[in-house]
Amino acid sequence: FTPVHIRRYIIFTAPLRRFCKTIMKIAIINGPNLNLLGKREPELYGNKDFDTYFLQLQSSFTDFSLTYYQSNVEGELINEIHRVGFDVDGIILNAAAYTHTSVGIGDAIKAIAAPVIEVHISNTFTREDFRHTSFITPNAKGLILGFGLDVYRLAIESFLPKL
Ligand code: DQA
Repeated sequence: FTPVHIRRYIIFTAPLRRFCKTIMKIAIINGPNLNLLGKREPELYGNKDFDTYFLQLQSSFTDFSLTYYQSNVEGELINEIHRVGFDVDGIILNAAAYTHTSVGIGDAIKAIAAPVIEVHISNTFTREDFRHTSFITPNAKGLILGFGLDVYRLAIESFLPKL
């Protein structure tokens, strides 16, 4: 093979390789009160609603299949973790207040196959003591917090190939 052959091979197989590329499936799950993002305590959580932000994430990460689920109900969050937990490549979970109270959500993460990245918009360690405890962290792959909504982008990037 000459360099010309190799170049031709790369050019002609590019569309096929793009077509065959495996798309990573990532589920974003948000817990209680995060449906009020944009309206709720904007000094802590910012001015943007999550639906708008989610569209921005989707257009920035076209190589990922991103889904988004939010509930204010603990059992519904557990059901969703079970539903996606054996299907997706990763879960980005902001369990919000349930982070600090829910043995059930912690156990659900332990039970599933998909790795979970725990995220928090605010830096919970600079806030009240009760926010320093997490039932998610011991069972999570990683934890990203304190960078505002950008924590979701950073969590998606953690699924990209490593340098
Ligand atoms: C939060 C932090 C939690 O302590 C709080 O209950 C939330 C949001 C965050 O994203 O900073 O609702 O998870």
